[in-house]
Amino acid sequence: MPLLQVAGVAKRFGRVVTARDVSFDVAAGEALGLVGPNGAGKTTLLDIVAGTQRADAGRVVLDGHDVTRLGAAARAGRGVARSYQVPRPFAELTVYENVLVGASFAGRKHTGRTASRHSRAQAWHALEVAGMTEAANTPSGSLRLLDRKRLEVARALATGPRLLLLDEIAGGLSESELPQIVSLVRHLRDDGVAVVWIEHVLHALLDVVDRLLCLAAGEVIAQGDPHEVIRSPEVAEVYLGSTVESTRDPSPGPTSEGERA
Ligand SMILES: Nc1ncnc2c1ncn2[C@@H]1O[C@H](COP(=O)(O)OP(=O)(O)O)[C@@H](O)[C@H]1O
Ligand SMILES: [Mg+2]
Repeated sequence: MPLLQVAGVAKRFGRVVTARDVSFDVAAGEALGLVGPNGAGKTTLLDIVAGTQRADAGRVVLDGHDVTRLGAAARAGRGVARSYQVPRPFAELTVYENVLVGASFAGRKHTGRTASRHSRAQAWHALEVAGMTEAANTPSGSLRLLDRKRLEVARALATGPRLLLLDEIAGGLSESELPQIVSLVRHLRDDGVAVVWIEHVLHALLDVVDRLLCLAAGEVIAQGDPHEVIRSPEVAEVYLGSTVESTRDPSPGPTSEGERA
């Protein structure tokens, strides 16, 4: 049984259709890449899986349990964690404190002193995995972009996820910074965490994902083997005739600029 099943999901905001009969599965420990033009509905789809947005139709099934009607907190309790396209740490808290917030949230099943000891251990472990222990006491507001991205991953990891949802975690990074994020995501996948990764930086994505799904105007236009999906005429067309090479380094949109600011 797949870890995640998304079946027939539909979603619209007024006249904008962000999902039209979207279906896909993710196996335990598998990495699925999610691509598509801006406005395709990728982030909204991640929201629907995480439970921060409710689908108009269709089902989200985790480990065989229908979680369609569960909220984000309940889904987090079942092992779903996500990072945001624009990192939003508590700027005045240190890196460690930010990660501890995530760990404490996930550690609610423990009580009293056990809870805090457990949370601290989880938080520190997440920092180690994300390679951020040296920045543990740095105020999060003063981090460079790469470290803000790593902190996003560490915060999600501190909840002990089985399914990690990543939204443009590589966006805005330089070519020399990319391998660090790529190897982090690969490490998590190899460690058994299932990953759904939205990313415009295709070569980073293709270094990690087992399968690729392309969304355009809310519709799945291709899914399967990553290289076959990239080469398919449908996918080439939505990228307006641009080649895979030219999508390597998309000009930064308003969001990327915002992230750098
Ligand atoms: N909360 C919202 N209210 C209204 N429209 C929204 C909302 N969230 C997203 N949209 C619209 O839905 C479409 C898909 O957005 P999004 O899922 O963010 O796409 P992507 O992540 O693929 O760029 C866009 O046209 C966006 O403006
Ligand atoms: Mg998005």
